[in-house]
Amino acid sequence: MSICLVTGAGRGIGRAVAERLAADGHQVVLVARSKDHLDEVAAGLSTQSLVIPADLTIDGEIDRVFAEVARTWGEVEVLVPNAGIGHAALVSDTTDEDWARVLELNLTVPFRCIRRALPPMLDAGWGRIVVIASVVAKRGEPQVSAYAASKHGVLGLVRSVAAEVARSGVTVNAVCPGYVDTPMTDQTVAAISARSDRSEDEARAALARRQPIGRLVTPAEVADVVALCVGNGAINGQGINVDGGAVQS
Ligand SMILES: NC(=O)c1ccc[n+]([C@@H]2O[C@H](COP(=O)([O-])OP(=O)(O)OC[C@H]3O[C@@H](n4cnc5c(N)ncnc54)[C@H](OP(=O)(O)O)[C@@H]3O)[C@@H](O)[C@H]2O)c1
Repeated sequence: MSICLVTGAGRGIGRAVAERLAADGHQVVLVARSKDHLDEVAAGLSTQSLVIPADLTIDGEIDRVFAEVARTWGEVEVLVPNAGIGHAALVSDTTDEDWARVLELNLTVPFRCIRRALPPMLDAGWGRIVVIASVVAKRGEPQVSAYAASKHGVLGLVRSVAAEVARSGVTVNAVCPGYVDTPMTDQTVAAISARSDRSEDEARAALARRQPIGRLVTPAEVADVVALCVGNGAINGQGINVDGGAVQS
């Protein structure tokens, strides 16, 4: 049983990852801004959990979260930086504020979490880091330049850290999903519907058709791959696509 920390654990992919890690017998730390969501997730878990509400983009909050875990249970052994935000706009309409907000949560927060989590993992000779990136960590798509840049960046971070620690017993990987059936995708569906003459059902069906498997990925399918990376010490430095075959690598 390991001490796992999942950011963005209140809904969507983070919630499914927390549920899967608990089902596999691990203790799980749940982090997001909304305490209500975290309490609801914690109530459904089969193992011990620790709810720590935090906005990870605020100075000092990452250190506070890790210190609370260390005080309560010990150092984090499995880190899943999952919290992220989407942003859809033409590059020419992307403001400095949009760019900074997306890069901060999707790239800088995972960097700071990894920097904090890694030394105790190296001391212990074992650890797992699994970042939730995206299929747009591997290829560009229109109108997601800030998001794609953040996800390409975080995959670069994963690959470099994995190479640094390869002989240590710590592995560092990314999971790269296509469109997953989560509240983030609900927002994408609503935005597509609002700027076209399509209903939300039609917009959702169009997103599903864009994936080779003809449907959205489920959060549990993403969580399965996180569990694989936790259980397997030979997978390191990978960005594993869970996208129904959109990117073949
Ligand atoms: N959905 C997709 O199709 C898809 C595809 C590929 C990759 N991904 C990636 O997968 C990850 C999860 O996506 P999702 O679809 O599950 O998103 P989601 O449904 O919007 O959930 C995001 C989670 O992150 C938390 N969060 C947001 N801002 C935060 C902050 N500043 N500090 C701490 N927690 C914060 C949210 O809770 P609070 O709002 O309460 O803080 C929530 O629990 C993201 O990195 C996303 O880019 C998603």
